[in-house]
Parts: sequence; structure tokens; C-alpha cells
Amino acid sequence: MAILVTGGAGYIGSHTVVELLEQNYQVVVVDNLYNSQIEVLDRIEEITGKKVKFYQIDILDKAAMTQVFAENEIEAVIHFASYKAVGESVIKPLMYYHNNIEGTVALLEVMNHAGVKDIVFSSSATVYGEDNPSPLKESMPTDTANNPYGYTKVVIEHLLQDLAKADSEWSVTLLRYFNPIGAHESGRIGENPNGIPNNLMPYITQVAIGKLPELSVFGQDYQTHDGTGVRDYIHVVDLAKGHIKALEKNKEQLGVKVYNLGTGIGFSVLDLVKAFQTVNHIEIPYRLAPRRPGDIDICFADASKAKEELNWQTEKTLEDMCRDSWNWQSQNPKGYCE
Ligand code: NAD
Ligand code: UFG
Repeated sequence: MAILVTGGAGYIGSHTVVELLEQNYQVVVVDNLYNSQIEVLDRIEEITGKKVKFYQIDILDKAAMTQVFAENEIEAVIHFASYKAVGESVIKPLMYYHNNIEGTVALLEVMNHAGVKDIVFSSSATVYGEDNPSPLKESMPTDTANNPYGYTKVVIEHLLQDLAKADSEWSVTLLRYFNPIGAHESGRIGENPNGIPNNLMPYITQVAIGKLPELSVFGQDYQTHDGTGVRDYIHVVDLAKGHIKALEKNKEQLGVKVYNLGTGIGFSVLDLVKAFQTVNHIEIPYRLAPRRPGDIDICFADASKAKEELNWQTEKTLEDMCRDSWNWQSQNPKGYCE
């Protein structure tokens, strides 16, 4: 029996595939390589010493996906495949609704047909929108996402809830990630954004490597301890391990379960910059810049439900995240395209 990982060549997917292989799961990866490189599969095999079965397929291609289910004994699916750039989703909403929502519907139809009714879904803290106060709890309302990307997550959460309501054989876990950063400690896999990064940590590492001249710190008048935005940064390896706990939970309890995956601790932009500088002994030049539209002051998790029900909690520190992000970037200045 194998776990099918959609988007398994991507940032979080590749780290999760490593953890699955380390736990002796068999893994089948489906990815269209829209936002990833084939090289990542060799790196995964190098780290784990194990083979990954890979299909370069779009999840919207139902015939090809049906074939994957016919050729493999799939017991459950971890569904990462998605577009994820918030700004791009505002400019190209149809592209996001098509890929993320229609892609998920197509996947669920194929799963239903194959009789595989076990799924772990990559949701996001973005579903909490702007109005809920941190620490964010799973029970808070989630219908106020303020961009098309976030709204695809809200819709897919509803969709999976409706599906489980209609058919009690479905086992669904919705994982709401906070801000994943860091990389595998080997430095062989990591985050590899196309073009100029939108997110803070890859921007910092590209400044550190000399690819970008300086960091812009967006906003200094937020209601936080130093005026800069506060987020719940989580090491991608801790996040990856949460998926294994979710697979186990799906086996013991049918229906829909929802968990935040975060540390429960918020750090500001300047906290992160300082930690990065201290751990890696590298100066990060930065300038204070206006707020970025759409950003909120503070976003961090109440991580207690995952601890109680999944027996999962983060193990890595902010220092680990800064060290491992830099280890990856410095060993792979051009990402996977060496
Ligand atoms: P990523 O872009 O690195 O990985 C996604 C992978 O899915 C890529 O390899 C891409 O090629 C593939 N893909 C996209 N559309 C596809 C399709 N139609 N068919 C097949 N493959 C397809 O992103 P990531 O950071 O690893 O994120 C993984 C999941 O976690 C996504 O669902 C994302 O929305 C969610 N998430 C990410 C973050 C974050 O900050 N990285 C935060 C919250 C939630
Ligand atoms: N920031 C800067 N300069 C930069 C980039 C970011 O100051 O160059 C600041 C932001 O203003 C924010 C913090 O750093 O205060 C974190 O920003 P990120 O872009 O790294 O992360 P976000 O919290 O904005 O968003 C991320 C993902 C979303 C996801 C959300 C919640 O990009 O997809 O976390 O999970 F929805």
C-alpha cells in the first residue's frame, strides 16, 4: 500500500516525502512540475536511500490520474498540489480557481471512483482572514479570506466537509499551516521560489547570498512589540512530520478533523532578521518600507489541539529554521538548477 502525494516535488511536499520514506511508507508522487524541478526526486532518494515512484501529471487530467490509481495500491492521499502566490491570485483569479478548486474536485472524483476515501489537505492560516484575534483557534470563523488564493482554501475546506457529510466513509484532515520556513538539515532540499521571492525567509537568504541588495521591511507601525508584523514561523520538517500524524489520525477516526500546524509563538520581521544574523554571522542590510497591502499585524496559532489529538508538536527553534534556511541557500545558490 502506498501514499499518493500530489505536489510532492514542491517545497513542503518534498520534505513530507522524505519523512514518509523514513517512516517506511511507500510513496507515489504526482506533480506537473509547474513550480518544481525533477532534480528534487534524486535529492530525496539521496537523503533517504529509497526510491520514489514519480508521475509527471496534472491533477486535472482525470484519465492519467485514474491510471495512477489503477497501477498502484493507494491507501491515502496527501494533497499539496496548488498554486500559492497571493498577489498573482489577485491578478489571475480564474487561474487559481481552476487549478486549485477544479484540480481538487477532479482528484476527489478519481479517488471516489477508486474507493480511496482518505485525504490530508494543505490548508492555510489564511482561512482565518483579518478579523480573528491571535492565538487563532480551529473553532474560529473562517469565511473571510481576503484574496482568491485564500478563498480557494476556504472553498476546498467546505467542499471536503460537504463530501464527508454526504458519505461517512470519507476520512479527511484539514491542516492549517502557519508560516513554513527552513529546510532539511542535509541542505539537499529546500524552498526554491521562481523569480523575486514574495515571502520573508527566501528574501532574506537571497540578500544573504548577494542576489538581492537589501530587504524591505514592510511596515513599522503595526500593533506589535517592535512595530513590524508578527507571524508563527514553523520549520518545514516539523510541518512535514505533522502530515504523518494526520495520516494516522485519518485511520483511527473517520469524518473531518481540523488542526493548526504552528508553533504557537509569534516573531516579528525584525526578530527573524536578528536571529538570522546572529545564527549565521551574516549582515542583512534592510530598509524600512511602507506596509504591504493586505498584510495583518499579528498571526500565530493556538497549537494545543494538534498536540492533544495528534500527539504532535514542533521540536525545532527559530535558530534551527534560520540555520537550515541558510544551509540550503548557501549550498544551492541557484536552487536546483546547478
Ligand atoms: P510548492 O509550489 O512548492 O508546491 C506545490 C507543488 O504542486 C509544485 O511542485 C507544483 O508543481 C505542483 N502543482 C501545482 N499545480 C499542480 C497541478 N495542477 N497538478 C500537479 N501538480 C501541481 O508549494 P508549497 O509551499 O510546497 O505548498 C504546498 C501546499 O501547502 C499548497 O497547497 C499551498 O497552498 C499550501 N500552503 C503553503 C504555505 C507556504 O507558505 N508555503 C502556507 C500555507 C499553505
Ligand atoms: N515581509 C517583509 N518583507 C518582505 C517579505 C515579507 O517585511 O520582503 C513581512 C510581511 O510584511 C509579513 C512577514 O514578513 O509581516 C511575513 O510575510 P510572508 O510573505 O513571508 O508571509 P505571510 O504571512 O504574508 O503569508 C504566508 C504565505 C501565505 C499564507 C500565510 C499564512 O505566503 O500563502 O503565510 O499561512 F497564506
